[in-house]
Amino acid sequence: MADNPFVYGEIVTAAAFADREIERDRLSRDLLAGQKVFLISPRRYGKSSLVRHVLRGLAKQGVLTVEVTVASSSSYVGFLEAYARALLLADTPAGRLRQWTSDLLRSVRPEVRFEAAPTGASRFAIAFPSAQSDRDITRLANEVFALPGRIAAARKRRMAVALDEFQAIASFNGGSIEHALRAAVQDQRQVGYVFAGSEPSLMERMLTSKRPFYKAGPVMRLEKIHQDDFASFLEGRFAGSGIRPEAGLGAAIVELAGNVPYDVQRLAHELWDDMRAAGRKTATLDDLHATLSRLLQEHGPMFEEAWQRLTLAQRATLRALVLEQGREVLSADVRARHRLAGASSVQSSLAGLVKADLVTKDGPRYTMVDSLLREWVARQTY
Ligand SMILES: Nc1ncnc2c1ncn2[C@@H]1O[C@H](COP(=O)(O)OP(=O)(O)O)[C@@H](O)[C@H]1O
Ligand SMILES: [Mg+2]
Repeated sequence: MADNPFVYGEIVTAAAFADREIERDRLSRDLLAGQKVFLISPRRYGKSSLVRHVLRGLAKQGVLTVEVTVASSSSYVGFLEAYARALLLADTPAGRLRQWTSDLLRSVRPEVRFEAAPTGASRFAIAFPSAQSDRDITRLANEVFALPGRIAAARKRRMAVALDEFQAIASFNGGSIEHALRAAVQDQRQVGYVFAGSEPSLMERMLTSKRPFYKAGPVMRLEKIHQDDFASFLEGRFAGSGIRPEAGLGAAIVELAGNVPYDVQRLAHELWDDMRAAGRKTATLDDLHATLSRLLQEHGPMFEEAWQRLTLAQRATLRALVLEQGREVLSADVRARHRLAGASSVQSSLAGLVKADLVTKDGPRYTMVDSLLREWVARQTY
């Protein structure tokens, strides 16, 4: 029996990966050339998946690859520890880690431990207990940020470093971390970097003329996957796993999911499960709507909570936005039709909705981040 061919909620590689060939080639080429690339898109568009895919390809060509999620750390020093650990681990035999660490990080006195892991293997951990004052931390950061260059030189290999959810860097320590990192990376010819970030407005601001990363390297803005390509990818995978898709099914899934890769895979995955559970050989548009209803029902309590956290003005604005497909929400016409208050009040509701991460601006349109929540608002609110 075939497994569900659709994957969501984790980084997808090879088999579940659609399209993105141009982006893959470009990112791969830039990293190999030692460029410092900025990769920007809203959440759930596929940045991490793309980066993982490209790094795997580079590793096969002998490049040392390192991947760290900046947003997973709760402090600056915590990030430096996680980053140093990942860099030191890259392709290093376990028996050499201790020596390797003290060779490379002489001046900052790291504490190295091998913690017992549940699997029985031991887990390499590194800490910098002596970094206390801001000055210590700055010195430590300079050491850690210089590591990739030293490792590439010592190993005589090219290196590719991915710092994911990079926008989180701003929360650690204002501008000085940007300065330190920029200064370090620009000298490292053998090391390609990709700084992937999920909050486009924060990331774009980081690249403006008064900030350290201004003109540091190429910027890739990851767009949605082309609608038709994604639709035929879906239909191909249904057919390939023994469930024949009714004509137009792929396009309908992409459309209902707002063409956000995560949402597309979620809907396809859940539909496939429903078909398999019912022992069906064909999936129809009606089946798709049944699956959607089930998902809406399951998410109901969560969506209700989100709805109740909003002010009345925000609820009204959100409904108008959904019903108007995000167009002209500020116009007199739309405001009258949906009994909204003045443009400035709608504007501030929109700002609140964007801040709450419920809505994003997609060109001139405002769209809802979560396509399921959008359907729920359209059907279950008044
Ligand atoms: N190229 C792709 N083809 C198919 N599905 C994808 C692709 N990229 C992402 N996805 C889907 O979107 C989800 C989120 O992708 P992810 O890489 O985590 O996005 P991001 O890092 O931008 O938040 C994945 O779990 C997967 O379901
Ligand atoms: Mg990601």
